[in-house]
Amino acid sequence: MKFAAALSALALVHAAVAQTIQSKPFELMIQSSNKAIHGKKLLASCHEGAAIESLCVTGGDSSRYFLNTTKGSSPVKGYTTSGLLVWNLPVGNEPQADSEPMSFYVDPGTNVALPLFEPSYESQYVAFEEGTGAMVIFSYLDDTVTPPTDTKVKVLKNWYACEYNYSGYVYHTLNFVLGDATAKPQNPSCVKVQVHRKFV
Ligand SMILES: *[C@@H]1O[C@H](CO)[C@@H](O)[C@H](O)[C@H]1NC(C)=O
Ligand SMILES: *[C@@H]1O[C@H](CO)[C@@H](O)[C@H](O)[C@H]1NC(C)=O
Repeated sequence: MKFAAALSALALVHAAVAQTIQSKPFELMIQSSNKAIHGKKLLASCHEGAAIESLCVTGGDSSRYFLNTTKGSSPVKGYTTSGLLVWNLPVGNEPQADSEPMSFYVDPGTNVALPLFEPSYESQYVAFEEGTGAMVIFSYLDDTVTPPTDTKVKVLKNWYACEYNYSGYVYHTLNFVLGDATAKPQNPSCVKVQVHRKFV
């Protein structure tokens, strides 16, 4: 009995810890001083394969996204806690959409990662700056020093709009350049952009 009670108490604690908090829906907007981005302000989910979407740079279309977090505080003041960037894939005639987390597709041949929504256990957490709504990624790893450390949090905004060929689909997509804040994309089509969310 005691054991069962302890177990169910544990289950309750576990449920409380794992409780997902979903944000209100938002659009993702981009900003850039580069002419290549002129007039293109929004990101929309675009098809890259069965149930796989990237974030395409568009002039008018947009999609709605969510941030799924769990309770906890942000490691950096002025930012939300980091969590899953979520897009709901409409499924045929089914009433319930398929909630897909964003993860990075990484090809070893480039330092330009491609954010994709797909049914996956993999995910890349993001956070947003309070106020500006700027989308960022927290990283603790610093391997530019020996031995590598992971004690200080970095706020990364290495977002670029690039032409990317993902399994034959060539789109103008949102990408992330791997590395610290000084990292530069090897893909010559990449243009620096800021990404922020706007609640709808
Ligand atoms: C995001 O949170 C909602 C609400 O709790 C949930 O229905 C959905 O499955 C979550 N999505 C992912 C990818 O975890
Ligand atoms: C993109 O890659 C595919 C192979 O995955 C290739 O067939 C196609 O020609 C490439 N697209 C361009 C524009 O080079």
